[in-house]
Amino acid sequence: MSEKESEKMANDRIVVRAIEAGDEEAWNKLWVQYQGFQKIVMPPEVGKTSFARFLDPTVKLWGALAIDTETGDAIGLAHYLSHLTSWHVEEVLYLNDLYVTEHARIKGVGRKLIEFVYKHADELGTPAVYWVTDHYNHRAQLLYTKVGYKTDKVVYKRTGY
Ligand SMILES: CC(C)(COP(=O)(O)OP(=O)(O)OC[C@H]1O[C@@H](n2cnc3c(N)ncnc32)[C@H](O)[C@@H]1OP(=O)(O)O)[C@@H](O)C(=O)NCCC(=O)NCCS
Repeated sequence: MSEKESEKMANDRIVVRAIEAGDEEAWNKLWVQYQGFQKIVMPPEVGKTSFARFLDPTVKLWGALAIDTETGDAIGLAHYLSHLTSWHVEEVLYLNDLYVTEHARIKGVGRKLIEFVYKHADELGTPAVYWVTDHYNHRAQLLYTKVGYKTDKVVYKRTGY
């Protein structure tokens, strides 16, 4: 089997689905890894609150996991939310977090997670999706330039928050 064929087989094993109640432990492992990548440690109540919100149908904050169907392992996550905007009648989606565990990278998992978010955005009737990344995160941008376009905006924050 060629390298390309075996990569495709590996990619076919990956399924992205909405987070479910039984996922908390598997999700939390990825969440902790993601915080390590972001060089931040969040208090446990942040994770607990976000996870509960993913499951709450009245809250427009969602979580998705990429699952390797051969091992059952969760290997990636995406978190996204919907909000009003003065620029459109419909709401827009903000992709808050995206993470693929190290050994599963450059196999199309990140792309699958973003495609899942796009599909959900279309289903919700809010197809506009945006996100931010660090200007030095070249690896992520290799993916982002294939699924979106780079804007000229610069992000500012209120000092201290
Ligand atoms: C960014 C991240 C989510 C990408 O996930 P991934 O599963 O590796 O991405 P994919 O394999 O789907 O990459 C998609 C495309 O980018 C290209 N690409 C990604 N990394 C690449 C690399 N290092 N070299 C060359 N091409 C690369 C792939 O060729 C692929 O293109 P294709 O789909 O046309 O073949 C992952 O690297 C990650 O979790 N990084 C740490 C956390 C992070 O940076 N999160 C984003 C914060 S904004």
